[in-house]
Amino acid sequence: MKTVNRRQWLQSSVTAAAGFPFLMNVRQTRAPLSGTDELRLNSNENPHGPSQKVLDAISASMSKGNLYPWSDKEVLRQHLSNFEGMPLDHIYIGAGSTEILQVAAMAFGLQRGKVVSCYPTFPVLMQKAADFSAEWLKLDLKDHHYDLQTLADHCDDKTSMVYICNPNNPTGTRLDAGELKQFAREISKRTMVFVDEAYIEFSEDGLATSLASMVRDEPNIIVARTFSKIYGMAGLRIGYAYAHPDTLMTMRKHRIGYGMNVPMTSLRAAMAALDDQDFVAYCRKENNKARDIACAAFKEWEVHYVPSHTSFIYFKHDRFHGNLQKQLHARNILIRTYRDQPEYSRVSIGTVEQMEMFVDACQKFLG
Ligand SMILES: Cc1ncc(COP(=O)(O)O)c(C=O)c1O
Repeated sequence: MKTVNRRQWLQSSVTAAAGFPFLMNVRQTRAPLSGTDELRLNSNENPHGPSQKVLDAISASMSKGNLYPWSDKEVLRQHLSNFEGMPLDHIYIGAGSTEILQVAAMAFGLQRGKVVSCYPTFPVLMQKAADFSAEWLKLDLKDHHYDLQTLADHCDDKTSMVYICNPNNPTGTRLDAGELKQFAREISKRTMVFVDEAYIEFSEDGLATSLASMVRDEPNIIVARTFSKIYGMAGLRIGYAYAHPDTLMTMRKHRIGYGMNVPMTSLRAAMAALDDQDFVAYCRKENNKARDIACAAFKEWEVHYVPSHTSFIYFKHDRFHGNLQKQLHARNILIRTYRDQPEYSRVSIGTVEQMEMFVDACQKFLG
């Protein structure tokens, strides 16, 4: 494990608190600058990654850094095609799925003016579309779950795109695959449907519940995935999307860097990651174990939390006294809060040991 052990962490926590009280007060939890002494349970990073095979592939590719990565991108597309039986011309590779969300927002978010999503969800696509003056229609989740009927009822001739995050960030809930497929088949006759599957590998049945195979027959469906989450490669900035070649052509007009924005090291790392499905299985197993630790504590403390199919848990912090996020932050544990969802926090799943630290720390603030 590359993380600090419990004693080192406690020591560094005390030292940091004593030496840098000013820094500790002003640091934001969203994007800490240095991760060496912080327990980062705020950005859904995978504490196990990257795998050793990925690290080896990166090392081996460094000496080829004088070459443009054209052919590496093609080789990765071939890998993805073999991995999931997707035709090569249905595959887009981007600098993380953030790039894919943004180019889709620019390509389709503007056309008829309205982008529809449930809320709360991962906002990047809609925010980018709104930057370009599209209207973002937010429909409340029902009891933290998607309500496909309400989404369908709000898609009209002004809707250019519907965004679905499955499983959803930040609630960790997921849709029934059959119902989602039926919804996507129907709605994509009227508008573009973007399905963000950033966490799908963590969920039970994983990729078997994906909508990827639909893009072969339905030109108005985009499925986006990332190497940032289960593969533990968030810092390497690589993701991919599946869609009809015409849809991808429209998206490519908005990309930055003429298709060369993903470095060779990351492309080769992604190939090694795909070939290492044992590591994926390991991460899923460890994630479940560590998630169970937090859920068991929440249950015992009667903390309301939403059962999660992902690498994070959305929970209500009213059983804790004071400001839980700030108090954990003072102990170098970062969690995520939301200005517009003031009753809830989100904790990312770390290692088993890290979740024990999180539980120990939270216990001190139980009301
Ligand atoms: C639902 C969802 N989609 C996309 C992303 C973006 O991931 P990346 O750009 O690292 O691939 C995230 C990151 O947290 C996410 O939660």
